[in-house]
Amino acid sequence: MSRTDGEQRSSPRAGASRGTGWEGGGGGALPPELAPALRARLAALFDEGRELWERFDIAVRRNEWHPFVPAHYEKVLAALLPLRRPGLRFLEWGSANGVITIMADMLGFEAYGIELDAALVDAARDLARKHGSAARFAAGSFLPAGYAWRPASGDARTGTIGHGPSGYPQLGHPLEDFDIVFGYPWGGEEPLMRDIMRCHGRPDATLLLWGVADEPPDARQPTGEPWGTAR
Ligand SMILES: C[S@@+](CC[C@H](N)C(=O)[O-])C[C@H]1O[C@@H](n2cnc3c(N)ncnc32)[C@H](O)[C@@H]1O
Repeated sequence: MSRTDGEQRSSPRAGASRGTGWEGGGGGALPPELAPALRARLAALFDEGRELWERFDIAVRRNEWHPFVPAHYEKVLAALLPLRRPGLRFLEWGSANGVITIMADMLGFEAYGIELDAALVDAARDLARKHGSAARFAAGSFLPAGYAWRPASGDARTGTIGHGPSGYPQLGHPLEDFDIVFGYPWGGEEPLMRDIMRCHGRPDATLLLWGVADEPPDARQPTGEPWGTAR
């Protein structure tokens, strides 16, 4: 995968040397209110996710640029816990090796991920099988078919967000079927993600976006926005 203008504008690893400082690396305590069996499953998933990413970083990212860097799993978990309700459908935009989508499944969401890199989708499906998760993944783009990014500035570059066939038909659900959508935008990509939601999301859905790229990695948190008020 080739480098795009996204990394040149602002990198989520800005200031971090290669191989250190990535956001998923810190680990951390899992909330004590979780049932012990769920805590154990999540801990095993996060540990394996971090190992998979370390291997991916060495095997892929040290040779060529790739947009996959993971969010901090424990912080995403803390953001998802208050959103848990029976029957809610969760979607991860750019699900990479699947850890966050599988986490959402373990928390009781009906969980789906869309990822452009088919090799990562294979890895996510393997990880889901291994951890007894029903999370579902599509290889494709999280941009809905027919969606076009037309910002007022006229600069319609999409940064690190790539292009390919839309993944929603494979999932059997359009974007408007999802209650919670999680995305990790690189610097400058937040407006595009919000616009997709504005155009194709459900007004009462929540968009959880990982961090603001200008913040230092340790300060980043997922922030959620309901879409009804943003229309
Ligand atoms: C910054 S990484 C985030 C990975 C994961 N969501 C996390 O937070 O740990 C962004 C991911 O989005 C994927 N991606 C980029 N453009 C995409 C698109 N149009 N549709 C689906 N996935 C895309 C990349 O391959 C990469 O795996």
